[in-house]
Amino acid sequence: SFYFMAKSLLSVADLSKDEINEILDRAKELKKSIKSRQELNILKNKVVGLLFEKPSTRTRTSFEVAALRLGGSAVYLSANELQLSRGEPIKDTARILGSFLDAIVARVYSHNTVVELAKYANVPVINGLSDLEHPTQILSDMLTIIEAKGKLEGLNFVFIGDGNNMCNSWLLGSAIVGMNMTAAIPKGYYPDQKILDKALEIAKKTGSKIKIVNDPKEAAKDADILYTDVWVSMGQEKETEKRMKDFQGYQINKELLRLAKKDVVVMHCLPAHRGLEITDDVIEGEQSIVWVQAENKLYGAAAVLEYYLK
Ligand code: CP
Ligand code: NVA
Repeated sequence: SFYFMAKSLLSVADLSKDEINEILDRAKELKKSIKSRQELNILKNKVVGLLFEKPSTRTRTSFEVAALRLGGSAVYLSANELQLSRGEPIKDTARILGSFLDAIVARVYSHNTVVELAKYANVPVINGLSDLEHPTQILSDMLTIIEAKGKLEGLNFVFIGDGNNMCNSWLLGSAIVGMNMTAAIPKGYYPDQKILDKALEIAKKTGSKIKIVNDPKEAAKDADILYTDVWVSMGQEKETEKRMKDFQGYQINKELLRLAKKDVVVMHCLPAHRGLEITDDVIEGEQSIVWVQAENKLYGAAAVLEYYLK
C-alpha cells in the first residue's frame, strides 16, 4: 500500500554536512531569541508529540519547552500509559498519533521502533534516543563545541567508554563534519559494526580520521574534546556488575586531562555518575563545559523542530 514517508531524523547520517550546518546556524540564532524571550511564531498551530519509553530529563524537557518557546505546543506520551503497553502494534500507534500530531519525538529501546514509527506516521519522527543512536544530542553538542572552539573541522574528538548509542552517533557525526575521532573502548563493547563501516566510508571523503583503540591514555593524547557517557545505558541495568568491572580505567579524571591538549574541554551528555565514568573534580572543574552543553539541548531542539516542521 502507498504511504508517504515524511523526512525524519532517525540517524545522524540522515543529514548532510550542509544540513547540519544549516541547523547549527539556526540553533545559534534561536539561542539568542529564546534567551531574550522574544515572541516566536515559528511553530504556530503545530503540536509536537513526545512518545517516551524511557526516562528523560533533558531531551524531554528541551523538546517540550522548545515547542512552546517557538509558539507551538507539545503533548507528552509515556509509552507505558498508552495501549502500546498492552500490545497495540507500533504501526497502528504511529498512524493514529501521526493523524493527530505534526511531529513525533520518540525515545525508544529498539531502534526499529523509530524506524516503524517513521514508516507509518506520515509526519516527521525525531529520534530522541534509541539503543543505536542519539542524533539530537550530537547536534546540540556540535553547537557547544563551536561555541568553545570556533569550529568543528579538524578538531580531535576523543570518546572514552562504551561503544553505545552516543559513540555510534558521534562516529557518524564526526565523519560527516570532518572532525577526527578516537574512541577508547574496552574489548567486547565496540560500537555497532555497520555504523563504524559507514562512518569510515564517509570519513574517506571528508578527510576525518577515525579510530577505535583500547587505551584511554593513548586516545587522550592531543584531544581537543574529551567526551564520555554512562557505563550502563538505560535498558542494560542487569549487566551493571559486569560493566563496573569491564569499564575500570575508562574514566575522565585529572590524570587523563593532563595527557590531552592544554585547552581541552570536557563533555558528557548526562546524566553523570561521579566516581565512575568521570570524577567530581573534572565535571565541576574549569575545563568542563557540560552545563552549557546541557543548556544547548534546548536550542538544538528548537532548531531541529523548526527544520523538520517548516
Ligand atoms: N542527554 C540526555 O539525553 O539526557 P536525558 O536522558 O535526560 O534526556
Ligand atoms: N547511553 C545513555 C545515554 C543517556 C542520555 C543511555 O542510552 O542510557
